[in-house]
Amino acid sequence: MSAATAELLAIHDLRLQFRSMRGLVKALDGVELTVHDGEILGLVGESGCGKTITGLAVLGLLQRPQAEITSGAILYRGDDLLAKTDAQMQKLRGRDISMVFQDPLASLNPVFAVGNQIEDVVRLHKGVSRKEARETTYKALASVGLPPDKDTFKRYPHQFSGGMRQRVCMAMALACGSPLLIADEPTTALDVTIQAQILNLLLKLRAELDVAQILITHNVGVAAQTCDRIAVMYAGSVVEEGPVSEVLKRPHHPYTIALYQCLPHGRTAAELQTIPGTVPDLIDPPTGCRFHPRCSHVMEICPTAKPQPVKAAERHWVSCFWAAEGAGLSAGPFRPPTPPDAPGTDDGAPA
Ligand SMILES: Nc1ncnc2c1ncn2[C@@H]1O[C@H](COP(=O)(O)OP(=O)(O)OP(=O)(O)O)[C@@H](O)[C@H]1O
Ligand code: SF4
Ligand SMILES: [Mg+2]
Repeated sequence: MSAATAELLAIHDLRLQFRSMRGLVKALDGVELTVHDGEILGLVGESGCGKTITGLAVLGLLQRPQAEITSGAILYRGDDLLAKTDAQMQKLRGRDISMVFQDPLASLNPVFAVGNQIEDVVRLHKGVSRKEARETTYKALASVGLPPDKDTFKRYPHQFSGGMRQRVCMAMALACGSPLLIADEPTTALDVTIQAQILNLLLKLRAELDVAQILITHNVGVAAQTCDRIAVMYAGSVVEEGPVSEVLKRPHHPYTIALYQCLPHGRTAAELQTIPGTVPDLIDPPTGCRFHPRCSHVMEICPTAKPQPVKAAERHWVSCFWAAEGAGLSAGPFRPPTPPDAPGTDDGAPA
């Protein structure tokens, strides 16, 4: 891959299934995604659409043999991660790509002080002395706004508040200087004030350390405030992707339009809209476009074929027959790599 595209991560046609007692769960159905150096990409969608497992697939953390990647490629700086050995992936995790997990308490070891946990990660990945690892740990704590002192270092996970615990996880993820952070619902369990602090921290990490991020969230409003681009997932596929302001001001996919209409925008509870129907059972997913049983624009072709991404505007892609027909868009079997955004050029504000 050409360095000129500045693509840090590119996921192509990623298909993944789980073996379960009830049968095969066809969880990812051809995911397409790109992240560029220094940008924040929001990955949004309803519960169960595949946001977390996409992140886990990138890091090689899916449990085998239950999880099986059946096709696709995950390119990190052009290098296919799916071709790497477990040992190679272990070295890459934390050094090149880090993840803050959906449940911060579960991802920290309750019986070790947090400072020691961060220090161990630094020693493992950087092979430095304990003294150097301790200095790096203090710097990492400071970078996420925690006091870089012995008191913080020696505390156990349960001695932190939810927001502080989230910061500890970010410090651990960033301590080795990885240029890509996957943050899985980092604000979900937090009250609005702390939520704002964590989102500001993500922006600060990008501004000061140039850390590119995939911000996984079911909250479109959170993505609108924080991200440069947004990828909307539905039932295992990215159905629309583009600059935040473009996708939210001019959504083309019926699912994105419906998601946007569900945002409060000052409406009362009685006025709030919902998307009819439920997320499909991925053991027996709908044929063709997986959204078709819930779609208010369904066409004859929709249950019979899967729509391919078509260009809706500059750097804006949508996979929908109705959107393509309405806008007179021409479909192609594959889309080219998305050119990089200039971070900060989008206002991120929905209309
Ligand atoms: N180990 C597993 N075995 C079987 N199915 C699984 C397994 N892990 C995940 N899945 C299924 O894969 C799909 C995607 O799950 P995932 O956790 O990625 O959703 P998500 O978008 O992160 O949802 P949420 O917003 O609730 O976190 C779901 O249908 C889920 O039930
Ligand atoms: S492809 Fe068809 S069913 Fe799917 S979102 Fe578009 S119109 Fe609706
Ligand atoms: Mg999840």
